[in-house]
Amino acid sequence: MSVEGKNIMVTGGGGFIGSHLVEEYLRHGAAKVIVYDDFSSGTLENLSHMKDERLKIVKGSILNATLLGRIVKKEKINIIDHQAAKLEVYSSIVNVKEDAEVNIFGTINILNSALKNKVEKILFASSGAVYGEAKSIPQNESHPLEPHWPYGVSKLCAERYCIEYNKLHGLNATVLRYSIVYGPREWFGRVLTMFIKRIFLENKPAVIFGDGGQIRDYIYVKDLVKAHMLAIEKDDKSFGQVFNVSSGKGVNIKNLAELLIDISGKKIEVIYDDPKEGESSVYQPERLRLPKELRVFILDNSKAGALLGWKPEINLRDGLIEEIKWILKNPWRWQTKPRV
Ligand SMILES: NC(=O)c1ccc[n+]([C@@H]2O[C@H](COP(=O)([O-])OP(=O)(O)OC[C@H]3O[C@@H](n4cnc5c(N)ncnc54)[C@H](O)[C@@H]3O)[C@@H](O)[C@H]2O)c1
Repeated sequence: MSVEGKNIMVTGGGGFIGSHLVEEYLRHGAAKVIVYDDFSSGTLENLSHMKDERLKIVKGSILNATLLGRIVKKEKINIIDHQAAKLEVYSSIVNVKEDAEVNIFGTINILNSALKNKVEKILFASSGAVYGEAKSIPQNESHPLEPHWPYGVSKLCAERYCIEYNKLHGLNATVLRYSIVYGPREWFGRVLTMFIKRIFLENKPAVIFGDGGQIRDYIYVKDLVKAHMLAIEKDDKSFGQVFNVSSGKGVNIKNLAELLIDISGKKIEVIYDDPKEGESSVYQPERLRLPKELRVFILDNSKAGALLGWKPEINLRDGLIEEIKWILKNPWRWQTKPRV
């Protein structure tokens, strides 16, 4: 299926990843792109550089099934790229219901409106959080699904509904499980953004929470977007499938901090904030301390390679440089409290 000439809805299109997808769908000749977003965490600023009459923005929640259905019908949507979600892991622990409502019931609304209006393709943004702690490394799509947090549970449940609608109704749904996505327009709150802010905007030491040995898999947002394009283009191969979308490589947090310091060319220290039980943290607000933080998180991307012909092309250093250039031009974007 070609993106060209298609009417595409990107839910959560005002967000970090959604805004890159919108850009790419327009670039690939979509007839129109409808951003459907309640702007609870997304911003119009993420879209403001796209001056294109094919872009339409609708403010609405995926929990409003009536409005959602009306827009899908009115705009004759062919493809839905479903990005809208609650994704703060800590918030999902303290507000389980809100996380479940948006991520599970919001997704069911999307699937029902797609079915009713004969949408030809649905992509669902899932997360490697569905796996939980690695039992084998890297984690492939057959790895046990034992999420640690309510966020992982709600994403897992939502992706199961996508696959169920595929089996039951033949809906052309594809689930993409992302590792940690980074790049320009990333929101402030996670460790990478905290490092970049301190090193590049504040000239302060990078603070590592824990011993710095936690291993993470970072995928550059433009590489991730290409996986979406291929999942649409090769929709016979992606029909009803689940794919990891990741770099397939791990970097430990200490090395990530050192890499950023090296890019900065500054003489900046790395500080460890690793309180023992009963001690309190110097730098990290208590609410940022996650129970059951994953030790190793690396997703195997070979299935997407084999079926879609996708592979990540941007190495971590080059991708980080792009994100840093963006935040240096837009420093106000991270003058907010960290999202947790
Ligand atoms: N960023 C990552 O590293 C990462 C990793 C794995 C999965 N994901 C998934 O990718 C998707 C996009 O994440 P992001 O990092 O761009 O986050 P983001 O917060 O920038 O984007 C989410 C968007 O959804 C919108 N939204 C939230 N609730 C909504 C609702 N009820 N109705 C309509 N819109 C709503 C927000 O306003 C925002 O624009 C999410 O589904 C997330 O779970 C992200």
